[in-house]
Amino acid sequence: MSDSSKTSVKRITIRTLQRMRDNEDAITMLTAYDFPTAQLLDRSGIDVLLVGDSLGMVVQGHETTLPVTMDQIIYHAEMVGRASKRALVVVDLPFPEGQLEINRSIEAGARVLQETQCSAIKLEGGAEQAGRIAAMVTAGIPVMAHVGLRPQNIHVEGGYRVQRDIEQLVADAKAAEAAGAFAVLIECVSTHAAEAITAAVKVPTIGIGAGGKVSGQVLVTHDILGMTSGYTPKFTRNFAEVGKAIEQAASDYIAEVKKGSFPSEKESFE
Ligand code: KIV
Repeated sequence: MSDSSKTSVKRITIRTLQRMRDNEDAITMLTAYDFPTAQLLDRSGIDVLLVGDSLGMVVQGHETTLPVTMDQIIYHAEMVGRASKRALVVVDLPFPEGQLEINRSIEAGARVLQETQCSAIKLEGGAEQAGRIAAMVTAGIPVMAHVGLRPQNIHVEGGYRVQRDIEQLVADAKAAEAAGAFAVLIECVSTHAAEAITAAVKVPTIGIGAGGKVSGQVLVTHDILGMTSGYTPKFTRNFAEVGKAIEQAASDYIAEVKKGSFPSEKESFE
């Protein structure tokens, strides 16, 4: 074993995130769904990994996050939790685990903490979820609240759109904080609304499509790597063209096999 592999890395906790917010040190968060990607992201220095139910769309190819089940989230969270040595790993409570009776949410959150090496859950909703958040936190399950656009509510909303009721958004974030949420994720709101929410709470706010006046940012990893097909939201940015690189590598491999130039002698046994 090399010396570097023995070096222990300090794990980011919910306290670290609070300190970062207090010191105005921007928090970074990305989604992860499998071991190798989580390992690479963890090594990159990301603060938080999210095993998001967005896996339903970017990994499973569904149109919404709703088909993702608790067993599937556990399957992915187990891989990500095992890969991560430094980041805080947060796991989405999939539909409808955060909508049924509160004890069921506690059981689901407890499964995450017992069966994976992840240490917090994310729950969609604000004021209407305050009782559930309080009960989960009392049970020892750290909760990140998710306000603004709530993808699990897509059919009631009739589509994905920017949320503009600032009074309600602020009330949601304040209620989540009062109930014990350690952070509030804000999705698809104006910069002004996100700034108002951030000013109204003391816990970290992490935005996606919420502008720059928040404590941190989260994006879907497949979006920043150029690995999604078709629609990409306005708020994301391509930081690499991994999708194109995969296609190119596969077509180069196909060409070499057809030509007979793969495998070479070097790549074969005597
Ligand atoms: O499921 C997910 O990946 C999310 C992000 C969009 C924040 O909730």
